[in-house]
Amino acid sequence: MKHKERRVVVTGAGRGLGRELVRHFAEAGHTVWGTTRSRSGMDDLERHLMLDLMDEGSIAGAAKSLAEQTEGIDVLVNCAAVDARNFGVEPDRCDIHEISAEAMASVFQVNVIGPLLVQQHFHGLLCRGQNPIIVNISSQLGSMVVGDTVGSDVAYNVSKSGLNMLSRRAAASYAGDGIAVVMMHPGWLKTDMGGPGADLEVSDAAQQIVATIQQQTFEDSGSFIRWDGVVHPW
Ligand SMILES: NC(=O)c1ccc[n+]([C@@H]2O[C@H](COP(=O)([O-])OP(=O)(O)OC[C@H]3O[C@@H](n4cnc5c(N)ncnc54)[C@H](OP(=O)(O)O)[C@@H]3O)[C@@H](O)[C@H]2O)c1
Repeated sequence: MKHKERRVVVTGAGRGLGRELVRHFAEAGHTVWGTTRSRSGMDDLERHLMLDLMDEGSIAGAAKSLAEQTEGIDVLVNCAAVDARNFGVEPDRCDIHEISAEAMASVFQVNVIGPLLVQQHFHGLLCRGQNPIIVNISSQLGSMVVGDTVGSDVAYNVSKSGLNMLSRRAAASYAGDGIAVVMMHPGWLKTDMGGPGADLEVSDAAQQIVATIQQQTFEDSGSFIRWDGVVHPW
């Protein structure tokens, strides 16, 4: 996909990394649809789809609406995600001793089942794309060698490990359709999720992520990489 216009969908585009990815893809000359689950943030998007990862009807509706606008898409970035704080859990009450079954299930619903359903409903559009690729934004906290010692929110850690396995299964299953699937740790970012003490400015990371995605080939499918393209340990 080098230096060629691509049709891109980014979920969670109202704020944080998703919003910056849309901006940098557009600046690089690509055609980008950003999804939001509410009207918040949608006015800044040139092309917008309404999509709530907790509502399969809305995911199906977004795919249907997109199919009326384009024959296919080339890049799907599953960026939207949550941690237990999004469901009212105090940051100091989401470790292995205290996390509730409800919080575990809710985070899993958004971070794993959500991307699964997005992949399913956008599969037809990807099949009609050029060198199509799914980029599932994961986290170092889903890594067995990083996440077993780092991170305070066990629901988030487990969900990102689950997303990695989902992505590996998708890479294998979609290979016959020519669809590549990669997982990406985007870096520790200064967003609402990452907080102000994070390592990276979100715009800088988004710029690098767009460049890294442009360099991915079908042979990279199944890889877990960082924002800068370096392979991430499992
Ligand atoms: N920030 C970090 O340091 C960091 C590190 C590693 C990995 N990541 C990953 O990077 C990605 C982006 O994170 P971020 O820092 O940009 O997070 P963020 O600032 O908290 O933004 C999260 C995004 O997800 C959307 N979202 C939440 N629930 C949703 C739902 N049910 N349906 C659809 N969209 C929903 C939010 O939309 P609303 O505005 O409607 O809530 C928002 O656009 C995530 O996959 C995250 O796990 C982040």
